Amino acid sequence: MKTVLSAIQPTGDMHLGNYFGAVKNWVRLQQDYRCYYGVVDYHAMTMPYEVNKLRTNTWELITNLVAVGIKPENLFVQSLVPEHTELGWIFNCFCSYGQLTRMTQFKDKSHQVKEGGKEEFISVGLLDYPVLQSADILIYKADFVPVGKDQEQHLELTRDIAHRFNTQVGKEYFILPEPLYTETPKIRSTADPTKKMSKSAGEKHYINVFADEDTIRRQIKSAVTDSGDTPTGSMAEGIHNLFELMKAAGDNQSHDDLMAAYHTGTLKYVDLKQATADALVNLTREFIDRKKALQSDKKILKEQVKQSSADIRKVAQQTLKEVKELVGLLNVPF
Ligand code: AMP
Ligand code: TRP
Repeated sequence: MKTVLSAIQPTGDMHLGNYFGAVKNWVRLQQDYRCYYGVVDYHAMTMPYEVNKLRTNTWELITNLVAVGIKPENLFVQSLVPEHTELGWIFNCFCSYGQLTRMTQFKDKSHQVKEGGKEEFISVGLLDYPVLQSADILIYKADFVPVGKDQEQHLELTRDIAHRFNTQVGKEYFILPEPLYTETPKIRSTADPTKKMSKSAGEKHYINVFADEDTIRRQIKSAVTDSGDTPTGSMAEGIHNLFELMKAAGDNQSHDDLMAAYHTGTLKYVDLKQATADALVNLTREFIDRKKALQSDKKILKEQVKQSSADIRKVAQQTLKEVKELVGLLNVPF
């Protein structure tokens, strides 16, 4: 069985863009691959963050992931597997400074910090974060990494590091991981369909997967449909987004019926919104119920994830042991 690794930062609510664009696919991959899914809390420290929220966000994300169908035994918390940071250090010495400064995400995020902060503080962690990401991937010798376009460059860097490492130690030790692209919808903000759904744009620009029924209905009801500057003959982004959401939520029948109405010019936006909200509510009801069940006895999930992190750690420890041997470090058991 081939190995898949992916990871997500604990930075607050999980929105429909995260779910339909990434996590839903992770759930499916569990059937065909040995999957490792990380909640990468060390990565979440690279941008300005609130100390008293990180731990809660970490447990919240774990709960959310399990509620939507990730198996607890496939989950680990990055800081519970300290070998990631140790391998990250070693990889620092196999990665050039220039390469990191050229990462587009570093440029974008350091820009964000400058714009948002009174005093600009760009941490070394932000610059170095792709090296830690490489360690996340290579420590499990992952064959495939399901990534969005935004992470492509980081995966390319991972392959470079693996290649440089192999060359230096004179052995094809790390396999070069491949990106795993799956057709996933890009979800837009319902409040401004010219933007992608995201937390950073503010509350009205994302729909929380675990929002209650009324909130989902309200957000869909107030969705911007046609901003008026759509070229004739093409579908307005807001309308397209509602169709995408309905399809992603699994209501193909309503999708096809309403699409037919759109093409004959008889589509009513109220019907489109009603059907989209219904589809989303039907889908997320189950998630909300599972989340409530998980929250009713938090200890069980905490124990499970501590245990799975410890089990997964054994794989990481073995890799690190071999790596230390290869790079010339002392490798004495304590
Ligand atoms: P983020 O925490 O915003 O980086 O999101 C984590 C992952 O969710 C990203 O790498 C994407 O794969 C996915 N994602 C985030 N926002 C969207 C969106 N609006 N549409 C589709 N996928 C998204
Ligand atoms: N950098 C990714 C993000 O910001 C998260 C991440 C960390 C990751 N380590 C990873 C993704 C390893 C894939 C594989 O979304």
